Amino acid sequence: MPEITNVKACVFDAYGTLFDIHAPTAAIANELGDKAQSLSDMWRGKQLQYTWLRSLMGRYTDFWQITGDGLDYALAAHDIENPDVRARLMDLYMTLDAYPDAVSTLEQLKAAGYATGILSNGSHKMLAAAVEASGLKPLLDEVLSVEDVGIFKPDGRVYQIAVDRLGVQKEEICFVSANAWDAAGAADFGFQVAHLNRFNQPPERLPGEPKAIMKSLSELPPVLA
Ligand code: LAC
Repeated sequence: MPEITNVKACVFDAYGTLFDIHAPTAAIANELGDKAQSLSDMWRGKQLQYTWLRSLMGRYTDFWQITGDGLDYALAAHDIENPDVRARLMDLYMTLDAYPDAVSTLEQLKAAGYATGILSNGSHKMLAAAVEASGLKPLLDEVLSVEDVGIFKPDGRVYQIAVDRLGVQKEEICFVSANAWDAAGAADFGFQVAHLNRFNQPPERLPGEPKAIMKSLSELPPVLA
């Protein structure tokens, strides 16, 4: 039995779901040594915290600034004072690779007639660069950014962007995220949600329950079939 039914569009979170957020530190892991994974995890953690905190403070700034602020915090916490390392990590973040399961899944969804899109905290500039670099651009009908509403996920105004731009009902959207808190927010908003549990995390204790839990994007087409 398909778990997610009557869907017209599949909308994806970007960072961690389609784009490999640990690729930048992995690319220069030989220089970072045993700090690489811890730096990457803290960078991501701080980046997300700053989106939530700035949303609560009413002090939106774009995700590129927040990504740099998160990196600066993580570099300082790891005693890495090297402007060249910072610059290269930021450059690498601008043109992230897609995870290996992203292209084939999007191809299958397009062939099956679903509309496809990204809905992300990323700025328009970051998302344009990443969809180009990763080769996903021809497979996406819409690339949507929180920039249009000036607040971050999981504010409901963000998820509403996809409803407005795709011209479908919220329950006709299958939203896919590897961020369990984003999956919860999207389910609470009213999307049918597939949580991509790439990182093997326990369930969030938050309102909003995903309809499906997957280990790989390749599990998505059968869930919808
Ligand atoms: C995004 C972050 C949450 O792409 O990964 O919106």
